[in-house]
Amino acid sequence: MGTNDKYPEPTSRRRFVKGVVGAAALTAFATLGETVVNLSTSPAGEGGGTVEYYGVEVVGGPAPRAMPQIPVALDDEGFLRGIWPPAEEVTREGRTFSVARMRLGDITYSGDWFQYCGAEIFPGLEPTAEQDDYFRYAESAQYEWQTREVSPGDRVNVDDFADYERWGNGIGANGLGKPATVTWRSQDVESSEVLPVQIIRSARVASAAQNDEWLAASTEEGFIAIFDKCTHFCCVPLFKADPTSVRFDAGSAIYCPCHQSVYDPFTIVRESFVAFPRPEGDE
Ligand code: FES
Repeated sequence: MGTNDKYPEPTSRRRFVKGVVGAAALTAFATLGETVVNLSTSPAGEGGGTVEYYGVEVVGGPAPRAMPQIPVALDDEGFLRGIWPPAEEVTREGRTFSVARMRLGDITYSGDWFQYCGAEIFPGLEPTAEQDDYFRYAESAQYEWQTREVSPGDRVNVDDFADYERWGNGIGANGLGKPATVTWRSQDVESSEVLPVQIIRSARVASAAQNDEWLAASTEEGFIAIFDKCTHFCCVPLFKADPTSVRFDAGSAIYCPCHQSVYDPFTIVRESFVAFPRPEGDE
């Protein structure tokens, strides 16, 4: 992890596309061996510790692990929101605090999935934060379609993605899926505390979800959402947004321009990491 030999060579790294996401991929990566560190007694805050999650696989570069998925749901009007678990009270070592967690598919989904890179102090990850959970288009759109067709702050609607099966922008392959940069649980917070999210609507995701318990629970109509903080040094990687990604065989992947990490949005893996505790509990 973090060694130079993990940096990709522009010409020798394997191609990222593995076909559809599926149960085989999940099984293959079901057990990972990251170091287990028990933070449950940490005096620094609440929550955190070793957590299992699903995310998009790292296929190149120095990033140590997958970026976590945010499960999604469409409402009756076609607006897309990220599922946030209900808060529950937990007592540990005489202290009572809230954690956001729920059973979803075959895993316990919790707010801890996103507690790294400093996000653990963001207001949106407070279990009881008053947010409506809808995805909203980001201020800094990275896609031409997004600057032309929607406005920052608009809620994401399925109708905005009607052309997802043929969409392309000259980077990587056309027809893989239509992306957008959005925010989540970040209304009325400082700009430095906005939770960045990559969403993609893809026929591959819709197909894979038909045969996979987790994807059936965490995606809808081909929409998948990824918490967009690189697990290396916290940059914001993007799917089909950077023309230079093509040099690293990453034109059709999620590419981090900081140190060339590459994530495959169509291979979902189950991994674990040590989530930071939140600095304060909700006592
Ligand atoms: S590869 Fe270093 S921050 Fe993403």
